[in-house]
Amino acid sequence: MAGDRVWIFDTTLRDGEQSPGCSMNLEEKLKVAKALEEMGVDVIEAGFPIASNGDFEAVTEIAKTVKASVVCGLARAARKDIDRAWEALRHAARPRIHTFISTSPLHMKYKLQMAPEAVRQAVVDSVTHARNLCEDVEWSCEDGSRTEREFLYACVESAIKAGASTINIPDTVGYAEPEEFADLIAAVVANVPNIDKARISVHCHNDLGLGVANSLAALNAGARQVECTINGIGERAGNAALEEIVMALRTRPDRLPYKTGVDTTQIMRCSRLVSAITGFQVQPNKAIVGANAFAHESGIHQDGMLKNKQTYEIMTPESVGLVRSTLVMGKHSGRAAFKAKLKELGFGELGENALEDAFKRFKDLADRKKDVFDEDIVALVDDQMSHAGDRIQFVALQVVAGSKGPQLADLELEIDGRPVNVQSRGNGPVDATFAAIRKLVPHTAKLQLYQVHAVTAGTDAQAEVSVRLEENGKTVNGQGADADTLVASAKAYLNALNKLLIKREKTAPGGHAADMSTSGALSA
Ligand code: KIV
Ligand code: ZN
Repeated sequence: MAGDRVWIFDTTLRDGEQSPGCSMNLEEKLKVAKALEEMGVDVIEAGFPIASNGDFEAVTEIAKTVKASVVCGLARAARKDIDRAWEALRHAARPRIHTFISTSPLHMKYKLQMAPEAVRQAVVDSVTHARNLCEDVEWSCEDGSRTEREFLYACVESAIKAGASTINIPDTVGYAEPEEFADLIAAVVANVPNIDKARISVHCHNDLGLGVANSLAALNAGARQVECTINGIGERAGNAALEEIVMALRTRPDRLPYKTGVDTTQIMRCSRLVSAITGFQVQPNKAIVGANAFAHESGIHQDGMLKNKQTYEIMTPESVGLVRSTLVMGKHSGRAAFKAKLKELGFGELGENALEDAFKRFKDLADRKKDVFDEDIVALVDDQMSHAGDRIQFVALQVVAGSKGPQLADLELEIDGRPVNVQSRGNGPVDATFAAIRKLVPHTAKLQLYQVHAVTAGTDAQAEVSVRLEENGKTVNGQGADADTLVASAKAYLNALNKLLIKREKTAPGGHAADMSTSGALSA
């Protein structure tokens, strides 16, 4: 099944979402799934349906919504997992069950506590059961790169015989290096007699920073599906980054003569969407999607660029959806220019109301800030997207700060449309602000992370704040952006609380965990 077409299998919503603090709610997952479908991703792994009701619901809704891409759900090698996955996937135009079991000596002995022959039987049973429900079945050997070769060949052969049409070889712990991993894939091609009946897939984690290199090396050895995530999010050091794989294939056809179905001009849009939703900021020097990926600052580079762009640019910003900035924005810019700027920055259609809100916020910012940079507009729109639909809305904040104390915060919120107000003291202005929030929205969640990032240079820069809260072992991330750091902090905390409310609603009997106290505040 070689050929030059490589399938892009996106697991942002499953392996990506599994990483601490990266959880997304249903609405957010649907937004990401639609963006992935529009970008031309071949397979969307929408979740792990048995893992939670939230995952089940998300896979079900994505299966009902997405038409062009295959929608996939993960299942362990157990009938109840596979049945649950199918229950969610059966609505899909193109469903796929992805079932897996560990095959390395270490995992079989300590994690599964199963003998190799029992594991091999489980491969046969699980794939057979999945294939009875769904025509498209993928089988993965977890910890494949540390599996004994002969046993791996035998398991792959059994999985194909039982009906799997995709065989995924994961480097689960990011241990492999490119030459070794390519050799493993070549050995599977050479030693599994029925391998021509399946597409070989790879799934590389990034613990040694080799996830993308290992995936590309595997293509040259015969793999034709790559599993990856937007911005490389995922467990520990993450997964191979989709944007890096796709752009490497596009930029180096001489060394990597393969095609994908991805519209690369949608890459920035997807990257920003995932970053805004998860709160995982992309590092500035990140390949392809980092803020500096196409910036040229040194004099020598700028001189070269002016003479011929190819001197320092191996791919164009336009090819990933960045349009060379032609519009300088300021307080005199109108709606049409603002709309054009959003397009330039890779934001899809916002919808009339959202566009109007964003324009109003842009005007407010332009009144307060001398220069409005592209980064400011990105922060502003990201902030608006991540707060849309929040039950607890920020209204106003007045803070007394400084060395003479006490520091005081006067906070006004709207909770389910009802205005509430409180004053609070604290050990510093941030503490006072968060104490005020705790008074209006009593909760027991613990603050795990408070992080401030300046969007641009200058003392009038907008602040982007990330807050992580933990409740009963579950973490949520919240973000807020504003020219005032304390307002951004309050918005980030509230955003995290809103996400906690959604989580509680999902787990509470009857679906309503958040009740209203007499003061009109939401309580735990
Ligand atoms: O990393 C891994 O091995 C996985 C499998 C479930 C495919 O995520
Ligand atoms: Zn993984």
